Amino acid sequence: MDKRLISAEKLIEDETELTLRPQKLTDYIGQNKVKEMLDIYIKAAKLRSESLDHILLYGPPGLGKTTLSQIIANELGTKLLVSSGPVLEKTSDLAAILTSLEAGDVLFIDEIHRMPLYVEEILYSAMEDFVLDILVGKDQTARSVRIDLPPFTLIGATTRFGDLSAPLRERFGVTERLDFYSLDDLEKIISRTSKVYSTDITKEATLELAKRSRGTPRIANRLFRRLRDFAQVLADGTISMDVTLNALDKLNIDKSGLDYTDHRYLLGIIEKFNGGPVGLESLAASIGEEVTTVEDVYEPFLLQEGFVKRTARGRVATEKAYRHLNIKYYKDGLF
Ligand code: ADE
Repeated sequence: MDKRLISAEKLIEDETELTLRPQKLTDYIGQNKVKEMLDIYIKAAKLRSESLDHILLYGPPGLGKTTLSQIIANELGTKLLVSSGPVLEKTSDLAAILTSLEAGDVLFIDEIHRMPLYVEEILYSAMEDFVLDILVGKDQTARSVRIDLPPFTLIGATTRFGDLSAPLRERFGVTERLDFYSLDDLEKIISRTSKVYSTDITKEATLELAKRSRGTPRIANRLFRRLRDFAQVLADGTISMDVTLNALDKLNIDKSGLDYTDHRYLLGIIEKFNGGPVGLESLAASIGEEVTTVEDVYEPFLLQEGFVKRTARGRVATEKAYRHLNIKYYKDGLF
């Protein structure tokens, strides 16, 4: 397979997750506003026999951007090609993919904010006019060649909307943000997963797992597989409340779904920086994590749930964080 493309299987931890992915918009749970808008745009494009306008999906990881792209291609009745910003190292990498597209196809570029600028620049005319302007030859013999492309739909996904350049952002006709899922939606997703895996889970356990999945289907499904392991080996195969509490405890997932790294993050602010404010760089370094990982993976949920606040002077642990960690809270960090 073309190294610049990523197979759908490779993108996911467990190939069985493939069957977990809904194939139609109506089977996709949650993100109702996004679904409603996409449904209209897809129907309109089909009515006019045109390619769907380019779509930018942004939001924290694990909320279903790839799944949604696969659904869009299915609904359009076209092919999905999957690539990602960091693997598109050369303009020829992107050119090879673009020239292999057929009319109406969907090209999904994950982590589109990590595409090199010179690659990004050839996307502009491809998106706007469906033409590719590439330079062939070197030095004196270099000349620009224009290649016509079939009309296609680019779906860009990013965890960092702000890192996208304005020219790229402006070329997307549709921009949609994916939000963390509600408990209700997560429960529905977990019930669906239980059917796909033919593994029973009690109602109580479903709610408990939903509460500990950080609003994220990918986490819910990953934890579901671990609970299934515990249920099969240590119990009768059904995921009961007992199995759930025991397994999540061993996996260091607390009552709010926070894991070992979330704890180190909050304890880092509280213990090393007296509750904050502390700059992101100092905090990330103090817990040995990459700045981007902290910002993209850990902070969105902690911010949404009110465990941490972002201020002009840096991150501050909230009273809720102290209470959650059973640490006495002194306002303004005064002892
Ligand atoms: N699996 C992962 N995300 C999902 C979603 N939003 N709806 C249904 N199944 C899912």
